[in-house]
Amino acid sequence: MQQNTYDFGLVGLGVMGRNFILNVADNGFKAFGNDLDEEKVNALVKEGGDTVKVNASTNTEIFVASLSKPRKIMLLVPAGKVVDIVIEGLLPFLDKEDIVIDGGNSFFTDTDRREAYLKEKGIHFFGAGVSGGAKGARIGPSIMPGGNRKAYGVVKPIFEAVAAKFKGEPCVAYLGPKSAGNYVKMVHNGIEYGLMQLITEAYDLLKKGGKTSNEELQSIFSSWNKGRLQSFLMEITADIFKVDDDLSDGKLVDKILDKAKQKGTGKWTSQNAMDLGIPVPTIDMAVSMRELSALKKERIEADAMYNKPELSNNAKEELTKKMEAALYFAYIITYAQGLHQLEDASKEYSYSLELATIAKIWRAGCIIRAGLLEDISIAFKTNKGLPNLLLSPLFKKKIEETVPAAREIVAYAATNGIPMPGLFSALSYFDAYTSARLPLNLLQAQRDYFGSHTYERVDREGIFHTEWE
Ligand code: 6PG
Repeated sequence: MQQNTYDFGLVGLGVMGRNFILNVADNGFKAFGNDLDEEKVNALVKEGGDTVKVNASTNTEIFVASLSKPRKIMLLVPAGKVVDIVIEGLLPFLDKEDIVIDGGNSFFTDTDRREAYLKEKGIHFFGAGVSGGAKGARIGPSIMPGGNRKAYGVVKPIFEAVAAKFKGEPCVAYLGPKSAGNYVKMVHNGIEYGLMQLITEAYDLLKKGGKTSNEELQSIFSSWNKGRLQSFLMEITADIFKVDDDLSDGKLVDKILDKAKQKGTGKWTSQNAMDLGIPVPTIDMAVSMRELSALKKERIEADAMYNKPELSNNAKEELTKKMEAALYFAYIITYAQGLHQLEDASKEYSYSLELATIAKIWRAGCIIRAGLLEDISIAFKTNKGLPNLLLSPLFKKKIEETVPAAREIVAYAATNGIPMPGLFSALSYFDAYTSARLPLNLLQAQRDYFGSHTYERVDREGIFHTEWE
């Protein structure tokens, strides 16, 4: 075994880990993998084809000793306790200045804790969000690293080489200290939840309202993907409608149980947004809808109990056209909410995030990549400190062009009993955010009435209380 010769180490040789390490090797860096599972180790060595370029071992000591210093070790293991166990396993063999990178979807406060713990030992710890699924890991993911800026310089050449490229620019950038990388990835996933929910609603509306077939849906989503809605999620949605069921007749999509699972990152986004006091209702709704979908038994019972309105006749082409505009409107609102959360979290946790950079590294490789991100990046670049995308003149135009369609689709869905809570919430959020006066004056009066909670006035300074009875 040659010692100290491999440029990059990776622990966790599942599909993501194996693909990531092969990507590193493809880019001319010698990489060494580690996993407790001998089969996974052997599979990587076999697929790597040349042990000088890609090698692996089940033995942690051999693994660490094979890496050049300062060591650059990435963990692609399940978030949670496993990360701590792996870190403890590595620690006896690490030296000061070594760099450990957690590439999983770890909760950001866990990253802060681990960073502080390893800092005491002179080791740099990075939380780096990696997005793009198994294929992205193999051919170019979007990478969102946070941690010590100087130490990032050491891993930068490798990350820039393996990351997806958008017009030649790598989709990776140093995002900020401590858990900035994991935080940004968490909100990326919140936006992912929102967009996915919105697409399912468009599918439902076209299917029910427009009596649109799977073949037609395939062609509609595919044509949308060629326009302003161009995005990875739109692309894969179009593809899904092509796939036949190999166990029975028809398309596979119709045979899939309508109960959505989740691993928690969307929920964390919502929970943390609540903690920060930043409204992200479309993301909240996307999480709630996964939860509601899981109540299949109750839904079946309730479906049988209540009558649905008769679906009104409508022109399919017109509905499709309006749905496209409404979806574009809701896409913008979802990004606006997620980025608003990032803007606030940046202050709260001292991340110094640059939203223009974040939008840039989301333009390729990641699950929420979309044509729209180019303009989002421009909006934040030209207007530093922009609190919300909706306040950008560039987006005002896009919103004004599409909000009438969103209103029509929402009205149609409400009248016809088609659930579109993602779109409804996006529209209500827009209407509330753009209201100089909301009815919450009444709510303040109620609070003061029953609890003497006091209120402020619009016409003079101070805190007031009234004996209402
Ligand atoms: C990515 C994805 C990925 C995650 C999926 C699934 O960016 O590549 O976000 O990290 O596996 O989002 O998440 P759920 O199981 O919660 O849907």
